[in-house]
Amino acid sequence: MALIHCIYCSAATNQNLSNDELEEILEQSRVNNASREITGMLLFESGAFFQVLEGEEADVEALYSKIERDPRHHSVRKLITEEIEERAFGEWSMGYPRVTKKDLEEIPGLNDFFAQGKSFMQMGAGRAKTLIGAFQQGRWRA
Ligand SMILES: Cc1cc2nc3c(=O)[nH]c(=O)nc-3n(C[C@H](O)[C@H](O)[C@H](O)COP(=O)(O)O)c2cc1C
Repeated sequence: MALIHCIYCSAATNQNLSNDELEEILEQSRVNNASREITGMLLFESGAFFQVLEGEEADVEALYSKIERDPRHHSVRKLITEEIEERAFGEWSMGYPRVTKKDLEEIPGLNDFFAQGKSFMQMGAGRAKTLIGAFQQGRWRA
């Protein structure tokens, strides 16, 4: 079986998602993902989600089709699905680094993009990879 990652962006149905609503998604994710050996990271900023799902192909695809239908977000758009050699977020059943717009504007290679007021919703595969690279490195892991 192949190890893959699937990365997508989406818009929150409730743009002012409360902490409780977010915690509920994270709690659900951590319980379910741990049992399927799915790992990854979720970002939420300016009303938009960006998520990385890593795991066995069939598990990731099944989860993605469930997530895609979740009414808590819409305009779900897949940015990347491909095989990977190893997990980038292996220690996170679903990491949630809290980021501000300012944090995003400081990421090398993405500063102009976010400074122009763009969000995860306008990203393509190239920028998605740059974003993942920034989070793979230590800075937001604590
Ligand atoms: C932005 C977003 C990200 C989500 N990420 C995950 C996830 O990583 N794993 C997961 O099991 N559910 C995730 N969910 C929740 C699923 O859509 C679904 O509600 C949940 O898996 C159902 O769990 P159940 O089958 O145990 O009832 C996410 C939902 C949203 C809106």
